Amino acid sequence: MSNLHQKPRILTGDTPTGRLHLGHWVGSVERRVALQDSYDCYFLLANMHAFTTRFDKAAEIRQDTIEIVKDWLAAGIDPVRSTIVLQTEVPAIAELTWYFAMLLSFNDVMGNPTLVHELETKGLADKHSFGFPMYTVGQCADILAFRPELIPVGEDQAPHIEMCRKAARKFDQLYCGVKPDVKDEDYVKVGGVFPIPKALIGRIGRLPGAGDGTQKMSKSLGNAIFLSDTEKEVQKKVNKISTGRQNPTDPGDPNNVLFKFVEAFIADEARVAELKDRYQRGDNIGDGHIKQELAQAINTLLAPMRVRRAEFETPGGDERIVEIIRMGTARANVVAEETLYMAKQAMKIDFGKRKLGF
Ligand code: TRP
Repeated sequence: MSNLHQKPRILTGDTPTGRLHLGHWVGSVERRVALQDSYDCYFLLANMHAFTTRFDKAAEIRQDTIEIVKDWLAAGIDPVRSTIVLQTEVPAIAELTWYFAMLLSFNDVMGNPTLVHELETKGLADKHSFGFPMYTVGQCADILAFRPELIPVGEDQAPHIEMCRKAARKFDQLYCGVKPDVKDEDYVKVGGVFPIPKALIGRIGRLPGAGDGTQKMSKSLGNAIFLSDTEKEVQKKVNKISTGRQNPTDPGDPNNVLFKFVEAFIADEARVAELKDRYQRGDNIGDGHIKQELAQAINTLLAPMRVRRAEFETPGGDERIVEIIRMGTARANVVAEETLYMAKQAMKIDFGKRKLGF
């Protein structure tokens, strides 16, 4: 099959752990929406990964999976142009995970900085399951099953993407005869099954939470502004951003937490520059005034999302979401099965080509 007329592929995804917030938007989702026309996009629901820490919350994981699709559709992801993929119904991902697990060293996996950080901050250090660190290897398979060129992700995912690149190089070198000195972009040209994909880090690497700016925005820290929040909730949460500045005439720091938000969400650059200038000089401009303008900008961004979301918050909405998931996953399996068969051929375990009934 010729790839000449096909668009390059993108794969990225989210673990269903709750609703999406503005940190997800500026970190990755905004990019996904924008790239739908120029790329063949695959958006993965990493519901298997949700079980690594919440194996006792099956019902919640199911509902979170459905809710995240609502967030995606609300944000502007079009399930016809783009492919929504349910991880647990793509067997090629689970199979490839096994093979990649053999190509990465135990120490590489356990030393992955994002994993180490999670073990520390989630209190998992001595008691995590055997399966928990596996999700990082699983993520290599999530990605490579679709042989994408780009992976739009937030900054925290960079170590996972690095691991994925390592697994792809190793596979191609071992089983496809690619020489180690070949340039990353040439792996497929010289016979590799897997391209060496690149991370595309979002416009804002780390959005602080609506608070004093010390923490990143996160649902579990209670400082998140959700894509599904109402206008009032947005204003209330924006008001919680605290800079410690007292008076409109105090010179302020134009790099503080409030201005991180201003820069992320007020689109008019000239206005941002003007606000910064006046803030810095303490030119009679209160934090309260800026917060009002900021909340307005965020609400302008979220308004069309609220309208699109409402379409699925009706009776039968969840069932329609499930149909969308099934349609995407059927399409995804065509690609993932093709990849798996190519990998099996390279590994000389191509004892017969199966057909999935999904
Ligand atoms: N680990 C990612 C997160 O928690 C979700 C994810 C799973 C992912 N598989 C992926 C992201 C593949 C990009 C590509 O946000």
